[in-house]
Amino acid sequence: MNPEFWHQRWQRGEIGWHAEDFNRHLAEHWPRLGVPASQRVFVPLCGKSLDMLWLAGRGHRVLGVELSELAARAFCEDNGLTPEIVDEPPFRRYRIDEVELLVGDFFALTPAHLDGVTACFDRASLIALPPELRPRYARHLAGLLPGGALSLLVSLDYDKSRMSGPPFAVTREEVLELFAPAFEIEPLATFDALVESPKFRERGLERLIEHVYRLRRRAGPDS
Ligand SMILES: C[S@@+](CC[C@H](N)C(=O)[O-])C[C@H]1O[C@@H](n2cnc3c(N)ncnc32)[C@H](O)[C@@H]1O
Repeated sequence: MNPEFWHQRWQRGEIGWHAEDFNRHLAEHWPRLGVPASQRVFVPLCGKSLDMLWLAGRGHRVLGVELSELAARAFCEDNGLTPEIVDEPPFRRYRIDEVELLVGDFFALTPAHLDGVTACFDRASLIALPPELRPRYARHLAGLLPGGALSLLVSLDYDKSRMSGPPFAVTREEVLELFAPAFEIEPLATFDALVESPKFRERGLERLIEHVYRLRRRAGPDS
């Protein structure tokens, strides 16, 4: 899943993952995390997700990172927002009031880019990545977030023999393996998502489960 794959998806408008509403798990579980309103929230691989506006609406400052500049432009155009655009190689920063989008590669982020971030929301980010990239994603995320940072992770699981990703199936065991070295993990909910996702039934799935987790970055260096 190289960058070109994602750029093409945006160029062709093949963005079936994009939701025209706020994420139900965000609305239900974010308040339980207890992240104070003024805190800055990181949204990795953010696309043009409306969830960033939901978070901003709760008083958070939001920092998204996204490979495709088309996504950043669409986020602004769709929502009638006028960004201030600044080149900050290797990123281009879109600043829209309390939402900032860094256009570029998640793996090029350093902790300095996430200055002030104390929370994270991952929906369709981990599961967008192929198995070989996920350990690197988890390690890099751990290196970016400060000790005590809270994260809401929405992951997806299904029978891999019936469909190939993305979105990829990520089992509960894999979530533990990926994040347990640096995070405390609390499963919050599971949700049967097939009824609302007929396109996945068409792709052959008979079971599609969303798992919601609360992660808390342990203090101290990565283990
Ligand atoms: C499946 S989409 C999910 C987008 C968003 N989280 C949502 O819920 O709508 C994954 C997004 O990650 C972006 N992406 C993939 N690899 C990336 C990387 N290395 N750095 C930044 N963005 C990336 C893609 O362009 C795509 O918009």
